[in-house]
Amino acid sequence: MFFDFLTIFPEFFGSPLREGIVRRALNEGKIQVGVHNIRDFATDRHRMTDDRPFGGGEGMVLKPEPLAACLKSARKAGIHSRVVLLSPAGPRFDQQGAERLAGYDQLILVCGRYEGVDERFRTLYVDEELSIGDYVLTGGELAALVIMDTVIRLLPNVLGCGESAANDSFSCGLLKHRQYTRPRVFEGMGVPEVLLSGDHAAVARHRLLEAVELTLHRRPDLLATIAFTPAERKVLRQAGLLARVDAAAGGGASGERRES
Ligand code: ADE
Repeated sequence: MFFDFLTIFPEFFGSPLREGIVRRALNEGKIQVGVHNIRDFATDRHRMTDDRPFGGGEGMVLKPEPLAACLKSARKAGIHSRVVLLSPAGPRFDQQGAERLAGYDQLILVCGRYEGVDERFRTLYVDEELSIGDYVLTGGELAALVIMDTVIRLLPNVLGCGESAANDSFSCGLLKHRQYTRPRVFEGMGVPEVLLSGDHAAVARHRLLEAVELTLHRRPDLLATIAFTPAERKVLRQAGLLARVDAAAGGGASGERRES
């Protein structure tokens, strides 16, 4: 998959691309990343990428011509690409959004500045606008990296053994159960006995209950989108959690999912 960033701060992308899973995906050719400096496509004497808004007002607005030229140079022909403008005014990006975007061959992530980009560029070239949360960043670079990071993890064979995205918080709809590693006792605190038991069914049950309790406590809104299997519902009923889960789901949205 191709990720292409359009930015006036190309240096921003240095270390995030050199670390961890992103770096491994790059080295293994699972992804290709282009960082495109919008300024390289400015044609005026001062290579201006922004200008004052018509009608007056605060701040500067990204000019349409360098953005459009930069985009044309970044777009790959003949593949399924999507142009995403990062902006606090877009709909909120979430895990479902990541799963949707992972279906494209190329994501072109346009990093806006907080005063905005010229509306004509947005209308003519942008497929969708996305915000990563209800706060205002100084620009879209961090948001674009968040999107790349979440999408990369979903691509086939990008995560190694034991890093499976299928067990993520949010991908199955629940927050993730708590995790422990060695040592068995840390500063006087142990590990739940069941995790040391070797009983895989008991571990799975424990983790399901922990994930459900955590979700009920912190993000009950997420339960409205989850369909538990009959076996999961049985575990929840036995643990006395089913009524609370169904209530949080708004009376039945947590209906049954077939066993897979
Ligand atoms: N640019 C500024 N703030 C942003 C946000 N919250 N999400 C995406 N892009 C942004």
